[in-house]
Amino acid sequence: MTGAASGIGQALAFALAAQGAQLALADVDAQGLDATAEQARQLGAQRVHADVVDVAQRTVVQDWADTTVERFGQVNLVINNAGVALTASVDEMEWADFEWIMGVNFWGVAHGTKSFLPHLRGADPARGAHVVNVSSSFGLFGMPQHSAYSATKYAVRGFSDSLRNELRREGSEIGVTTAYPGGIKTAIVRNSRTSEATDRVEVEAVHDTLSKTSPENAARVILRGVRKGHAHVYIGRDAKLMDFGTRFLGSAWEPLVNASIQRAKTKVVRRAAAPS
Ligand SMILES: NC(=O)c1ccc[n+]([C@@H]2O[C@H](COP(=O)([O-])OP(=O)(O)OC[C@H]3O[C@@H](n4cnc5c(N)ncnc54)[C@H](O)[C@@H]3O)[C@@H](O)[C@H]2O)c1
Repeated sequence: MTGAASGIGQALAFALAAQGAQLALADVDAQGLDATAEQARQLGAQRVHADVVDVAQRTVVQDWADTTVERFGQVNLVINNAGVALTASVDEMEWADFEWIMGVNFWGVAHGTKSFLPHLRGADPARGAHVVNVSSSFGLFGMPQHSAYSATKYAVRGFSDSLRNELRREGSEIGVTTAYPGGIKTAIVRNSRTSEATDRVEVEAVHDTLSKTSPENAARVILRGVRKGHAHVYIGRDAKLMDFGTRFLGSAWEPLVNASIQRAKTKVVRRAAAPS
């Protein structure tokens, strides 16, 4: 699993550890990764290997996949979860930031999927073979100031849908689940990049206000989706609402979402201005 040092990835590692799983954890944050690995062992993981892996680096991910199979003999569940955020308008966004987010959020998922797929084909069918790719509710709706992030998450969705249908057509038992978290209480925005013109404090406050789901709950929903073989899992009422709105209201849904973001921003600004 990638992105295991924090947030949803860490919660997934703990939930799997409590089930006695054998875990191969990866992240760029060595310290956070060690802390996750240590706690996963205490929670009951049978075996844990933690490696510093930058998912944007193709050969690094390929080597990690090969090493993981050498260590464990087989791989049954691959979770491409590592991700970063960028808040910037299309006008203000730096190309370097655009490339950075594509590298982690899209290429990271593609590298992880393609590197582990041949190994999943060799997994013992009795133990299953499954890929989870983490998209976002912003992979259902093009959120203003998040064009690059939304582009990566739509791409994850398209890539995963296509893979699922390819595997189905060939009669493969490998499952593919795409996860669409809504607002989850994690460090994602604190670790994010923003354009110079963006009010970072406001972005963090809006995320804190709108994020209602804990990472532990997100992990539970994802793992239930894997157990049930669901193609898509929507995490939190906000993600479910986003799916409903985009599906049934189409573009009439867009002004409603924009108005609700504006309300959240106004609430945050009022709260900041209120005497303490
Ligand atoms: N938190 C939310 O509200 C939310 C909403 C929708 C989707 N998501 C998605 O959920 C996933 C997990 O995010 P989170 O909220 O737990 O955030 P987080 O910041 O808590 O965790 C993300 C982890 O990914 C790691 N990471 C970043 N770049 C990496 C790289 N190049 N290689 C390997 N690891 C890297 C980070 O070090 C971090 O440990 C992401 O794909 C994110 O886009 C989150």
